[in-house]
Amino acid sequence: ASSSVRLADPVKLLSSEMNFLRANVTSLLGSKHPALDTIAKYYFQAEGKHVRPMIILLMSQATNGISPRWDEVREREDEREKARREGRGMGVDEPLEKEEVLQDENPTMVERARDLLKNPLSAFSFPSASSPSTSDSASLKILPTQRRLAEITELIHVASLLHDDVIDLAETRRAAPSAPSLFGNKLSILAGDFLLARASLALSRLGSNEVVELVASVLANLVEGEVMQMKGNMPNASSTTSPTATAASPASFSSPSTQNPSIIPASSLSGRGPTPEIFHHYMRKTYLKTASLIAKNARAATVLGGCGVKQGWAEGEKVKDIAYEYGRNLGIAFQLIDDMLDFTATAADLGKPGGGADLKLGLATAPALYAWDEYPELGELIERKFEREGDVERAKHLILRSSGAARTFTLAEQHSQAAIDAIRRLPESDARDALEKIARDVLTRKK
Ligand code: FPP
Ligand code: MG
Ligand code: MG
Repeated sequence: ASSSVRLADPVKLLSSEMNFLRANVTSLLGSKHPALDTIAKYYFQAEGKHVRPMIILLMSQATNGISPRWDEVREREDEREKARREGRGMGVDEPLEKEEVLQDENPTMVERARDLLKNPLSAFSFPSASSPSTSDSASLKILPTQRRLAEITELIHVASLLHDDVIDLAETRRAAPSAPSLFGNKLSILAGDFLLARASLALSRLGSNEVVELVASVLANLVEGEVMQMKGNMPNASSTTSPTATAASPASFSSPSTQNPSIIPASSLSGRGPTPEIFHHYMRKTYLKTASLIAKNARAATVLGGCGVKQGWAEGEKVKDIAYEYGRNLGIAFQLIDDMLDFTATAADLGKPGGGADLKLGLATAPALYAWDEYPELGELIERKFEREGDVERAKHLILRSSGAARTFTLAEQHSQAAIDAIRRLPESDARDALEKIARDVLTRKK
């Protein structure tokens, strides 16, 4: 019955918030250096759904007010904003350090440097995080720090795409030439680093160590996931690396793939194909490279809303766990569908390489692992990373003949449902419905 219910549309619910976010991210990405400025903004300005920041904003709306510390938290932020507006003291966007300005002999440089010293913010205009000008009552419920967190989430995501397209040798992204193919690898990597630097700057101003820990551990997770993927599907091949996936996390949300047995699909394997360890390795990699960002940043949003350790409300852990579980399951479902679409959709649909592009990179994702279960001869090809002439074509043929894509979809459905089950433990609200809709729609996306 619930699937026929019309859920609140996240895009409509957040339209003024998202315009505000776009403007803010653009200014967080700004650099006086034209090349850096262009490339840093390149992916953000391309048509993107901005689903990650949307989730952060909706999670904020759906959980704010639950904590008995909410009024305190909001008053403190209101006070900070008032102080900022009146030019006394620290807002979310008040710089602690003046931008360092290098002097040189070039007179125009010296002149500009003097200019900057007079007005340090002219080098980098830190956008206001206060609130979009709107009468939207939903907006009133989001804190300035939570808005900034949503922006930070997008900065990190775009940074990871810039680096990813270098690693994957991708020529297209979002239906346009990729950043590396337009600007080269070196600038793409530097631009990614620049985005991370700006994200760190913004993060430091949120005033929560708990949030800094969460977001910093996301950055480690992204790299760990990428390295796990690079090292291949065989757990023994990467046994020398021991990802500190949960270094900064309490035990309650460690071991992402073991705490919920339903997500280990190994029980459905025939025994002739991949071992459970190989599947587990794939699921863990998937958590690290995709789900961690959504899960931990969603958790961070609830910390800012009064559920943090510092607020001393013990039940806050439960709210944080709901946000985390929603994000983790949604993220895994999202990546499973991504891996399925790599086989079932065309590059034209996707706006990025498809049609088995992962195989060409030597990667065996869920559809390939399930197909291996049905066609044991795939094992050999997977182990040698489809290196030999004709391997990619043969593998693609077998995978498309197998039920690999269908079984991947079924697994994605289970995670989508787990995300919905998690979010339904929150009080009813439009924002909660919109989060539920995102978890449903992840299954039917075409790109
Ligand atoms: C896209 O996956 C890539 C990621 C989800 C993460 C990439 C992470 C890194 C490159 C590590 C560096 C991290 C930072 C923070 C700069 P995909 O290649 O499967 O998807 P695609 O089809 O969209 O390219
Ligand atoms: Mg990649
Ligand atoms: Mg890629």
